Amino acid sequence: MPATPLTAVERAPGATGRARASVVLSTGVCLPEAVISNADLERVVRTSDAWILERTGIRERRRSGAGVTTSMLAAAAGKTALDHAGLESVDAIIVATSSPDTFIPPVACLVQRRLEMASVPAFDVNAACSGFVDGLIVADGLIRAGTASTVLLIGAEALTKLVDYTDRSTCVLFGDGAGAMVLGAGDAGGILASRWGSDGSHADLIYYGPSEEYPDTGDGLRLAGKGTFRMAVEQMTELCAELCEAAGWTMDDIDVVIPHQANQRIIEAVAKRGGLSLDRFVINVDRLGNTGAASVPLAFAEAEATGRLHPGSRVLSVAFGAGATWGGFAMEWTSSPR
Ligand code: ACO
Repeated sequence: MPATPLTAVERAPGATGRARASVVLSTGVCLPEAVISNADLERVVRTSDAWILERTGIRERRRSGAGVTTSMLAAAAGKTALDHAGLESVDAIIVATSSPDTFIPPVACLVQRRLEMASVPAFDVNAACSGFVDGLIVADGLIRAGTASTVLLIGAEALTKLVDYTDRSTCVLFGDGAGAMVLGAGDAGGILASRWGSDGSHADLIYYGPSEEYPDTGDGLRLAGKGTFRMAVEQMTELCAELCEAAGWTMDDIDVVIPHQANQRIIEAVAKRGGLSLDRFVINVDRLGNTGAASVPLAFAEAEATGRLHPGSRVLSVAFGAGATWGGFAMEWTSSPR
């Protein structure tokens, strides 16, 4: 019995009566220019470049400036993806984020306003670092059901605004950025299988609020590092095996793995346990840190830009995040290199 509930993988008949698949039409990114290096953090908390590098693999991360919000990053990434797809509008906008500009309205509606898009449905998904994968599973369902022909899906975070820069165990981890995809209907390839799940009994592993250790400090992102590490490795390894089987592939068939970027050591452990060589993994955690829901689309865009994705490439993407939440998908890449 699989550990994660199945999402529908059979193709629903499309409007044409032919099989309808969700394919990636384009990608886009937006990264703030300001960089926080490990040396910068050494000046703020009791830490060292050597500790951060050894325990996380992170060298630097991006930080959005004062007044720059998640919706601004999201809109910029979304605009690039729309331009690359040659589209001015889509049938739905989904933004995955845990660091919205404000509680209300949804970031997706702010993106819609910024991009002056027509009155299509726009909504947010909050599943922390798994949010983009969950958003993609929703978008895939909309496209295969024929409810939408094109979806703009964005993962965007301004996590440095939620970080408590007195908490050395978390402040070194997180960064800001946004990645986007335009998904559309195709006849073949695209998303072949997906899995998702969550277990709220682990809700205390990662949360935003006061520190249990130092209750007098303000709110911030808190993390039970070791428990999260273990669960992330177990779930992402299991997802790789389940998705591979669901797609009808062997592990040797996989060309590229795009994991959530929380920690270099987590990625290495998933590679080792899953029997996948590390050179197939796309890794940007060294330069961007953990960008939450933005990490998967940022890594996809980088893989595309650096020529690692070609029509026919077999791609696995897996994520784990607060909640606890997890999810992944197997995809046959269809876009041609730009
Ligand atoms: N610099 C120096 N020392 C530090 C730092 C730091 N920045 N942070 C912690 N330490 C110390 C600790 O105080 C501890 O010291 P002690 O032994 O004297 O008590 C020691 O280093 C070891 O700390 P651990 O927390 O056990 O270190 P660990 O090797 O587990 O690494 C880390 C911590 C990097 C957080 C790791 O556990 C991790 O990456 N966890 C998973 C993160 C993850 O998966 N996130 C995904 C979801 S996030 C989301 O959804 C928003």
